[in-house]
Amino acid sequence: MCGIVGYIGHKEALPILLKGLRRLEYRGYDSAGVAIAHNGTFKSVRAVGKIDNLAAKLQNENIQGTFGIAHTRWATHGGVTEENAHPHTDCSGDIIVVHNGIVENYRELKDKFLKGHTLRSQTDTEILAHLIETQYSAFAEASADKQGALRAAVQSALSYVRGTYGLVVMHAKHPRTLIAARLGSPLVVGVGDKEYFIASDTSPMLAHTQQVIFLDDEEMVEITDTGVQIFNLQDKKIDKHTEHIDWSEAEAEKGGFANFMLKEIFDQPTVIKDALRGRLVEDEGTAHLGGLNMTDVDMRSINRVILIACGTASYAAMVGKYAFERLAGIPTEVEVASEFRYSDPILDKNTLVFGISQSGETADTIAALREAKRKGAFVRGVVNVIGSTIARETDGGTYIHAGPELAVASTKAYTNMIAVLVMYALQFGRLRRVTVATGERLVKAFREISVKMEQSLKIESEVKKIVEKYKQYKNFLFLGRGVNFPVALEGSLKLKEITYIHSEAYPGGEMKHGPIALLSPDFPVVAILTKNQLYDKMRSNIEEIRARKAPVILIATEGDEQAKELADDVIYVPPTMELLEPLVNTIPLQLFAYHMAVALGKDVDRPRNLAKSVTVE
Ligand code: M6R
Repeated sequence: MCGIVGYIGHKEALPILLKGLRRLEYRGYDSAGVAIAHNGTFKSVRAVGKIDNLAAKLQNENIQGTFGIAHTRWATHGGVTEENAHPHTDCSGDIIVVHNGIVENYRELKDKFLKGHTLRSQTDTEILAHLIETQYSAFAEASADKQGALRAAVQSALSYVRGTYGLVVMHAKHPRTLIAARLGSPLVVGVGDKEYFIASDTSPMLAHTQQVIFLDDEEMVEITDTGVQIFNLQDKKIDKHTEHIDWSEAEAEKGGFANFMLKEIFDQPTVIKDALRGRLVEDEGTAHLGGLNMTDVDMRSINRVILIACGTASYAAMVGKYAFERLAGIPTEVEVASEFRYSDPILDKNTLVFGISQSGETADTIAALREAKRKGAFVRGVVNVIGSTIARETDGGTYIHAGPELAVASTKAYTNMIAVLVMYALQFGRLRRVTVATGERLVKAFREISVKMEQSLKIESEVKKIVEKYKQYKNFLFLGRGVNFPVALEGSLKLKEITYIHSEAYPGGEMKHGPIALLSPDFPVVAILTKNQLYDKMRSNIEEIRARKAPVILIATEGDEQAKELADDVIYVPPTMELLEPLVNTIPLQLFAYHMAVALGKDVDRPRNLAKSVTVE
């Protein structure tokens, strides 16, 4: 939540910061602001709403300078107002702060340290600016190292803070110095040619450099024109390597699509190949995911798998559960991270825990994985964002290689997560009970999946027609069984997130235990009825819906003519092996939500109240 970007170099800072903010807008878009240093003072402009509002306001300003910071906010403490937008300043206006995270003890800090200070907002962040102010004068007077006084003041202020922060600070008396610190909220430093960047993720810097340094918790950085120095919070210098990031700027562009979500839906057949590349072993009928860091003996010792995730990632995990149980015969649980972390989980050295996350920065998932590690389980990550906290804190795991996913509603990360989890299940399964013939069949199905996903995308015009027919409905029920129940959950979540239409998802067989009471001609049902072992069962469930006169939209397997008799509308998808069905069956549901949102005039990429990475609890 909240995006930060800072720049120090030889170019005009404002266009770089604004473009960077647009890249980070997925992290929050309640308000935005920028501060640029010029002639010993700071010029700061803030606006409520999306970056476009800030950009419009900036058109009336003449702001020049090659050094500055910017922020896009997802409100936690304090309403969505201009006063609460970042950057925030101390009393004098000399200290400028942007912050991502939550200062839990901000009231306490205010009462203890800030008597007589003039506070202008309701935010916890402003407390930090004033707290640094209280520490700065002492250090500036006492320290012979005047340059180090700002760093020392920030370190001292942070020693009183309880909570999380990704924090960047500028001071008018330190005209070309950025101080940044991290605890629980990500920060990355970009090292360019005589220019430096600091941001919440790598996307704002990709146009300028692919050389980055990931800050870890309790680390801080001092960036000046001459370079980058990293310290811990006790001011001990730390040596860190610069890493090369493969993601290019082009990958983070819309590529001719109307918005990121549509582009990312259409990316799926391509990026699924990236998830599979080099990981399938044809002649052994298995998969090999190198980053697991477990020996065959370790793998055979596992008697329980726990998949921890939130939101869409948890639905991908549900497909993973089917795969692990069916292929590897290992009892597998899916745990929503926010529940798991407080559930006092029973874990041991025979438990394998996977944290599944697109961003790798979801606070609840990180906390849950730390708990699992503490209790002695094997902890591994299935993550998209390279160098993210989960990627670095787990003892191994796999990147899903979906590329940058910028729309708030997750699409391609979901399908790539499923691919990776099914490959893991195959790898474990081949050490246990899966025959080479079954393994080969699955590997073959994987090889064909990209083409099938392309075919699934071809139904877009059909979906648009169906959306026209149903766009006035206020409620939808999504139904699926077996491996398609998580698909129904995901279809329902996508619709809710970007159209704000009420929808629910149930397993087909559960409907008659309650939800069927909802059904009427005003309550359409979207059901997945593809040709798998539960086809006949699901068919009976759909008959039950027909009897209640609810309109039915079916996702059915190509060639299933009977589906037409059962439904008002049918969307056909190509057949594949049952465990891979979610990869093709989810696509029409993503497109359904997408076109419904467009038809209703919603902001598809930036739905209300949401942020892409949920980095607060
Ligand atoms: O980055 P993560 O995969 O950990 O994020 C988990 C959820 O916050 C995320 O999937 C969320 O549900 C999306 N908005 C779904 O579209």
